[in-house]
Parts: sequence; C-alpha cells; structure tokens
Amino acid sequence: MPTVSRETPRPPRSANINQKGGVGKTTTAVNLAHGLAIQGKRVLLLDMDAQGNATTALGIEKYTTNASTHDFLFGNAGAEAYTKSKYEGLDVYPANVSLIRAELELLRLGDDRDRQLKQRLDSANLPHDFVIIDAPPSLGILTLNILIACDYVLVPVQCEYLALEGLTMLIETIEEIRNNHDVDLSILGCLLTMVDLRTNLSQQIIKDMRTHLGDQVMKTLIPRTVRLSECPSHGKTIFEYERWGPGARAYEALCKEFLERISLARDRKAIMNAGMMQ
Ligand SMILES: Nc1ncnc2c1ncn2[C@@H]1O[C@H](COP(=O)(O)OP(=O)(O)OP(=O)(O)O)[C@@H](O)[C@H]1O
Ligand SMILES: [Mg+2]
Repeated sequence: MPTVSRETPRPPRSANINQKGGVGKTTTAVNLAHGLAIQGKRVLLLDMDAQGNATTALGIEKYTTNASTHDFLFGNAGAEAYTKSKYEGLDVYPANVSLIRAELELLRLGDDRDRQLKQRLDSANLPHDFVIIDAPPSLGILTLNILIACDYVLVPVQCEYLALEGLTMLIETIEEIRNNHDVDLSILGCLLTMVDLRTNLSQQIIKDMRTHLGDQVMKTLIPRTVRLSECPSHGKTIFEYERWGPGARAYEALCKEFLERISLARDRKAIMNAGMMQ
C-alpha cells in the first residue's frame, strides 16, 4: 500500500472510528487516554462528537466556558486552551452541540474543508505524547477531517451478530482516503468490545473476525462488564471506578498493545521510507 512517510517530532494522533453507533468508541477513547496517562504519557483527548460523551465521562461540564473542540477547530481558541482533566497527564478539548454547526462551517471553507483539523493540529505546538480523538458515529466531513489529520485509526467493533457487516466497507473507505488524500494513515487494528466469552456467539464472532481480518484484529478483547457501562455516569474512567476489575485490566492490556502496534507501524514506515529513498 503506498504511504507517504514523514517522521515528525509531533505527538502521534490516533482516532477511534466506526460509523456504527454504540460500539464502544467513546468508552475506548476515554479509558485508553487515561490508561496511557497512568503510564506517564501526556495525552490530549479531543472530543469530536457533538454528543460530548467523552467530555462527560471524564466528569467535565459540557457547557463549560473553557474552549471547546469547536473553538479549537476554527481558531477561536489557541492550541494551549485545552482543559486539564482531574487525571494527571490527561488534557481534554471538550465537545458539546456547538460541534453540530461544524459540518456546515467546514463545507463553507471550500478547498480547505477536509484539512482544517490537520492544519490546526499541525500548527499547534502541543506538549503531549499522544493525541487521542473520539469520533462521531458517521462518516461525514468531520470524520474525514479526523482521518486526514490522524496517523492511526483504531476501529472498535461490538462483538455481536453481524459484527463484520459494514466493517469491510469502513476499512476500504479508510484505505481510499489514505490513497486519495496523500496522508500517512495506518489502521492500528479492530478492537472487539463488549465480548462475553461465556457465550458461543461471542466465541464464533471472534473466530470469524480473525479468519476474515487476521492480524488486523487486536489481541486484546474488551469484556462486557456492568462497571464499564456505569462509570461514565459517575464522571470516572474505569481506572478510577474499579481499578483492579476486568474492565480496567482489559484497557491496561489495550494500552500495551496500542503502544506495540504504533511501534511496529513506525518501523514499517521507516523501512518503506528507506526503500523509497534508494
Ligand atoms: N465493554 C463494555 N461493557 C458494557 N457496556 C459497555 C462497554 N463498552 C461500552 N459500553 C456501553 O455501551 C454504550 C455505548 O458505548 P460507547 O458510548 O462507548 O459507544 P460509542 O461507539 O462511542 O457510541 P456513539 O456511536 O453513540 O458515540 C454506552 O452505554 C457504554 O457505557
Ligand atoms: Mg461515542
């Protein structure tokens, strides 16, 4: 697959993308971001869904007077105007319904409409080690901006009947964007969420996913647990809500695999880059 490799010192950007709603994008964005922060990384979480679920899941008021993702996107706030979360090392650009306007505002930008987020992030001198983006459940112009701005995509997939439906199209769309927009974008992997290993159905879905997508399916499985569904309403991540439970352990394993996969993807890019220079 042709990729344009440019090694830059800026923080890697990874987004959770799936046009399907309720598959665990936000739960994963919040817990991955906090899990990385616990490991000593400095993380910026960009909530890019007008529902603002990642914002509330971190106990942050959606209608705060602080700068929102919308403000950041359109330059009404400087890159350093993010909100500090209650967790050390984890900063956030909160979202609220103002982001609904963003789709129309982006369309009015003409030629630059697809690259607005990339331009804003490229010109930001962020002190973070990672930027994690929570995307909305659609493949509109906001998501296109996210894909063009990102280095990596993680695709959360709910472990349910017809899990594969729509997934092949999503992967093809991401690959098309990579090729047509000349962006350096890798799919880190598909993450199975809400897995119930006690059921034959879950076992069968995992098997089917691995048969069809091989290594693209992450080793980490996120179990279905009541605790993971409860913690957002308390404004806490799973690491605060139930530090040693199965949900926290799974997200800890995801952080490890996330870092390993980024390291592998970087090595692969470096090899391709060296090959292109010969
Ligand atoms: N592993 C899990 N176990 C149990 N419940 C979960 C798990 N992961 C997510 N949930 C719950 O499932 C619902 C959907 O999860 P989440 O909001 O993360 O999905 P999403 O893909 O971000 O949704 P949307 O597309 O609406 O943004 C939420 O109520 C969440 O608390
Ligand atoms: Mg969400």
